[in-house]
Amino acid sequence: MTVLKRNRICGDLRVVDAGESVTLTGWVQKRRDHGGLIFVDLRDRSGIAQVVFSPDVSADIHQEAHALRNEYVIQVRGEVRKRPEGMANEKIPTGGIEVYIDHFEILNRSLTPPLMIEDHVDVSESLRLKYRYLDLRRKPMQDAIILRHHVSRVTREFLNSEGFLEIETPVLTKSTPEGARDYLVPSRVSPGRFFALPQSPQLFKQILMVAGFERYYQIVRCFRDEDLRADRQPEFTQIDMELSFVDEEDIFAVTERMIARIFQETKGLTVATPFPRLAYAEALNRYGLDKPDTRFGLELRDISDLASSCKFKVFTDALALDGTVRGIRLPDCAGYSRKDLDGLTDTVKVFGARGLAWLKVAEGKIESPIAKFFSPELLEQIRQRLEGAPGDLLVFVADQAGVAFDALGNLRNEMARRLSLIDESLYHFAWITDFPLLDWDAQEKRFVAMHHPFTAPAEADLSRLGSEPGAVRARAYDLVLNGSEIGGGSIRIHRKEVQEQMLAALGMDAEEANARFGFLLEALEYGAPPHGGIAFGLDRLIMILAGARSIRDVIPFPKTQKATCLMTDAPTPVDQKQLDELMIRTRILE
Ligand code: AMO
Ligand code: AMP
Repeated sequence: MTVLKRNRICGDLRVVDAGESVTLTGWVQKRRDHGGLIFVDLRDRSGIAQVVFSPDVSADIHQEAHALRNEYVIQVRGEVRKRPEGMANEKIPTGGIEVYIDHFEILNRSLTPPLMIEDHVDVSESLRLKYRYLDLRRKPMQDAIILRHHVSRVTREFLNSEGFLEIETPVLTKSTPEGARDYLVPSRVSPGRFFALPQSPQLFKQILMVAGFERYYQIVRCFRDEDLRADRQPEFTQIDMELSFVDEEDIFAVTERMIARIFQETKGLTVATPFPRLAYAEALNRYGLDKPDTRFGLELRDISDLASSCKFKVFTDALALDGTVRGIRLPDCAGYSRKDLDGLTDTVKVFGARGLAWLKVAEGKIESPIAKFFSPELLEQIRQRLEGAPGDLLVFVADQAGVAFDALGNLRNEMARRLSLIDESLYHFAWITDFPLLDWDAQEKRFVAMHHPFTAPAEADLSRLGSEPGAVRARAYDLVLNGSEIGGGSIRIHRKEVQEQMLAALGMDAEEANARFGFLLEALEYGAPPHGGIAFGLDRLIMILAGARSIRDVIPFPKTQKATCLMTDAPTPVDQKQLDELMIRTRILE
């Protein structure tokens, strides 16, 4: 028998095809024996079609079909028939038809799969990652990976149409640690020397601007050896862009058009542009975080001025140390028990707060063990400041501003989820602007770049870079969507002297600056145009578009929280011979 080729795909069959003889291929989703007939749900990438093995068509074939098991790969030929009255399955697009089989072949068998190929599976994520090829057969995973393809496709189409060139940059590159830790690759021909995998193509894309390409993009893998979270992977993908002769407005405009196009073409959603803008300081004051979720209220309020005249030592001590007292209103939470309140305290402690003070608002009074430290007038002023109504719980953190913001900002997100205050159908974008250029690293006792060391200082603040580095604003911006940082970029330094000043502000002397970034400093001396750019976290964007809770659910082969691959078992030890060639001896330090 010559091998038949399929002439149709499962998911396309409709009632109009009745009477046609079709050949299909795919996987056995399920076999059911029923009233003398054998029904098989046959699955290919396009969907599922019901095929029927009937003794009326062929007793032999019906008999042989008893051998079919889940996930066998088969090829079938048969006649499309409209399902009898009342037997249609409204839940699937092919539910009006079934295919009566007159010939079939088993192309390959399958062991019993360790996880069901169903939309919802009740198995551990490690099992899913070990058998990723089975997990990826499930429809939600297929949908996410297909969505990923379309987002990349639309991105390329859009950027090509706007005159961007797709240009590749090296994966074996120079270690320039600043930000996350590098992944290192030893060089065989230069023993003792290492390449680093790129944390981003930042310097290469800037050099491409010096080289005169004017508009660059790349959908590019980046590598960062950092602590992993639900929205972080050690290797992830950026939509990376750089443009010459632009300012912030040009970059906002082109990326807003790109994002709007992606939402329109992949989800049929119209997003309103321009996106709202929020200065960094305002984002912290109102939401506690520089990636605020603006889909709900519960904004932070500053009560430092009021707290300064109370007798609660926790508040006054914090203020005496140049700290702050901030609070949020938790609607209808006044009924919280001691245990609930301890739970809230534990939540803020994760973010460094030492405790959480609370006031319960009741009709005409305020209840709290700390109420005695406040005059009735003061309590009333605090209630008004937080717009507390009877039934509300008002909670406060007194600490250094950074801790108070982080603790309350994260509590705000957590409580909005718990109290179901988030409308999941909304997509709220915001540009965060006016970041500080530098951030004081108390551990290293030096300034570090808030974005990266190539970000331009605001023109007006340039003169303060030497004298008052902490007060200099950056020409940097982040794009936030529903509380997730999906992109970030800046206008770059294109003048050598400014770049040198910046590296000096980071505590690098001229020698170190040259050893690390000499090639950039040199390039800036040969007619570097003004330029700027941005990079989007493709995985995070897709996570939001797909409604996925973990970044791992939108990456075909992700790493675990411990940065391992459970399918291939990487990273693994390597042969001594390989190490010998690299002239490397390993000794694991305690
Ligand atoms: P940045 O470091 O902000 O900027 O990265 C840009 C975007 O990449 C995403 N992202 C990640 N996604 C998943 N896992 C990670 N570990 C991870 N780290 C970052 C985020 C982030 O907004 N070169 C600059 C860009 C520029 O200035 O043009 C850069 O890399 O969504
Ligand atoms: P204490 O004085 O430690 O008994 O704390 C009294 C209350 O104040 C408790 O509810 C603590 O959780 C809360 N508390 C302690 N430290 C802080 C702080 N830094 N900010 C806000 N509340 C705090």
